Amino acid sequence: MIKVTTVAALREALAGARRVGFVPTMGYLHEGHATLVRRARAESDRVVVSVFVNPRQFGANEDLSRYPRDLERDTQVAAEAGADVLFVPDVGEVYPHGYVTNVQVGGVSAGFEGASRPGHFDGVATVVLKLLNMVQPARAYFGEKDWQQLAVVRRMVRDLNVPVEIVGVPTVRAASGLALSSRNSYFTDEGRAQATALSAALRAVQAAYASGTRDGDALREVGAAALAREAAFTLDYLDVVDPDLQPVGAVTEEVAVGARIVAAARIHGVRLIDNLPLVPQ
Ligand code: PAJ
Repeated sequence: MIKVTTVAALREALAGARRVGFVPTMGYLHEGHATLVRRARAESDRVVVSVFVNPRQFGANEDLSRYPRDLERDTQVAAEAGADVLFVPDVGEVYPHGYVTNVQVGGVSAGFEGASRPGHFDGVATVVLKLLNMVQPARAYFGEKDWQQLAVVRRMVRDLNVPVEIVGVPTVRAASGLALSSRNSYFTDEGRAQATALSAALRAVQAAYASGTRDGDALREVGAAALAREAAFTLDYLDVVDPDLQPVGAVTEEVAVGARIVAAARIHGVRLIDNLPLVPQ
């Protein structure tokens, strides 16, 4: 695996490459990221992983300055998972002096994370489009862990005719059910144990649906009540949504197929998100 920091060096490393697979990340790589890289490895001739903590997707009061970083370990994880090129640009390479362009995706980016984190998805869409233009992959891999982000990226690619196939990869979890996240490194062991209540709340909603609850509001209440059993959590949102991120009403069988339970909550100063299909697949 080679490491490059400029777009020029990246282009050189990829000259003549066919079927490039691309995994964009913000680093502090874990088994979730590694799973995306292995999937890309299996489906591509060349695999590029980017590590870039994108300042434009962090709000003023968010964790940009304390976002965890460990490039040495990232290099090892990416290489072991099968990456050929590690692209680690600095902020000036991505947003050179005088940079003024912003990508804004409507619709799917409005609610949930978009409402809680104003400007977040502008930052995500902008950097993802830039990275796709830099790498020019045939396929780019994103985790279902960030369900709304995946929907925003798919929408942007469709709306702007970006010549790439977006591949969504199921969420990798710890045995406890906790979705792997770079932000889990903020927790003590006790905090990490308490944080499993979020995925447990999502499963409680699945269980309620499986045992016959069909009303969207009733399902939401089941989830909120389940999360409330862990006092350390403050719920931001928990909802059952359709593929366009619109809250569902009565859950018919047709609605259930694409329905997703999405949630965000804060615990010990850390904001976590998670999601599951309403009907286990
Ligand atoms: P980051 O949080 O580093 O995540 C990089 C990719 O890994 C995303 O597609 C994310 O959904 C996926 N991922 C994270 N945890 C996962 C898990 N437990 N299982 C499966 N996939 C997981 O998401 C970003 O970075 C940024 O917003 C980015 C797209 C790189 C743009 O800056």
